Amino acid sequence: MSQFNIVQEKNKLNDVMDYDAIVDLFNWSDEQLPELFAKADVIRQENVGEEVHLRAIIEFSNYCVSHCLYCGLRCENRKLVRYRLSTGQIYQAVQKAVDLKFKTIILQSGEDPNYRATDIARMIEWIKSRHDIAITLSVGERAREEYRLWREAGADRYLLKHETADEILYQRLKPGRSFLDRIRCLWDLKDLGYQVGSGNMVGLPGQSIESLARDVFLMRELDIEMAGIGPFLPHPDTPLANDPAGSLPLTLKTLAITRLCLPTVHLPATTALTTMAIDARRQAMQLGANVVMVNLTPLTVRDKYCIYPQKAEIIEEPEISLNKLKILFNDLRRPISGDYGHGLKKANRPSIEKKEVMI
Ligand code: 5AD
Repeated sequence: MSQFNIVQEKNKLNDVMDYDAIVDLFNWSDEQLPELFAKADVIRQENVGEEVHLRAIIEFSNYCVSHCLYCGLRCENRKLVRYRLSTGQIYQAVQKAVDLKFKTIILQSGEDPNYRATDIARMIEWIKSRHDIAITLSVGERAREEYRLWREAGADRYLLKHETADEILYQRLKPGRSFLDRIRCLWDLKDLGYQVGSGNMVGLPGQSIESLARDVFLMRELDIEMAGIGPFLPHPDTPLANDPAGSLPLTLKTLAITRLCLPTVHLPATTALTTMAIDARRQAMQLGANVVMVNLTPLTVRDKYCIYPQKAEIIEEPEISLNKLKILFNDLRRPISGDYGHGLKKANRPSIEKKEVMI
């Protein structure tokens, strides 16, 4: 089936909700926000239930060849001390995630060509042969054949944010990169049977409400399984140091609209969002979010994975983060899932023989 047909089929399956309807939602006034949030909470309840999925993230390298104007890992940032975890350190972090009963690990890095596709494949195979855990990869843009190798090695999911669906803004913020390449990567990943996560930043300099509506529209078209949405936070050692941060209300509004437009999507209360206000995570969980990521990167390097400043939990042991989350979710009467928290459209995906064991 061509990509065009996939979109058409999905549109037939889903309720009709076009771009203009999404813009209308963004135009709801501040006074109407409580109503919008309450609607999103109901849709969350009906479609993904009360369970919260915790994911363990391991940031294994902060080397990056990209030049993204917003990101602290950009290769021009010479102030940043770079690190790569050894495979031993990575496996240790994975073991810790398993001990703490996580059912998903996210292996994330900057775009670091030092890792050959086969290195990463071997790592996936090693983990999968020892642990009953889902693997999300998040290592940026790579060739389709590399994505295929990792999928065949057992990777379940891939996280590649589209960052902004505004092509002109994208070009400006990511010199040397193309929006179409990004979209091609996302289609390749879908086609290879990954559960695909994407997402965008809110409040980027030059971003309009229409452009945010396009973000939601694009995620709907791609029919993604996870939407990572957080505020833009200016990093002092980037060209956007003096631009204002995205606003909390607009970020929360975007989360709620995403839940309304993609009812079954996994929607994290992102770390970036959590840095904005003491109760931002609680708010997000009450307007559509159902996922939280817990950082399992070793404390010795944690502060060096500095995408944006003031990352919450930066020097916190995962046990401490987990305890705080348990208190919060107990309070919200939201049980923590003991399951993998796979995407909810599994039946639609082609399966790869090796994968059958895990699902
Ligand atoms: N503010 C907020 N989010 C950022 N990211 C990168 N830089 C920033 C920033 N300054 C996000 C991007 C990227 C993810 C790893 O972190 O969305 O995909």
